[in-house]
Amino acid sequence: MEWSDERHVLGLAAMDDTHREFFALVNAAEAAAGPAFVEAFAALCAHTEVHFANEDTWMQESAFPALDEHLNEHRRVLRDLRRFNERVAKGSTMMARAYIREQVAEWFELHASTMDAALAAHLKARAMA
Ligand SMILES: [Fe+2]
Ligand SMILES: [Fe+2]
Repeated sequence: MEWSDERHVLGLAAMDDTHREFFALVNAAEAAAGPAFVEAFAALCAHTEVHFANEDTWMQESAFPALDEHLNEHRRVLRDLRRFNERVAKGSTMMARAYIREQVAEWFELHASTMDAALAAHLKARAMA
């Protein structure tokens, strides 16, 4: 996954920093082999738990209008990641590898440009009010 300031910066430093870290962790997992993949995938999952939990807190604390939709999407993705991670920990990396290779970039582009962009705009507008 290639970071582009133009496409990916949403203007909220805490969110942008987290998203940059997310890219780095996905790329590290993609490049990792053997036991390093197990570690890299677990690190990506742990980071995503915190990433989503922070956004969930911001949404709840700011009365974000599309709260339910965004929370449910986070829940759905975490459920998949946790399931893949359990399989990886047992030595089966095929699903996790396919997810990293074929799905995660597309998911992020859509999620960030819709749900996260809306949340960033909402938080910025509130900060200015
Ligand atoms: Fe996000
Ligand atoms: Fe999000």
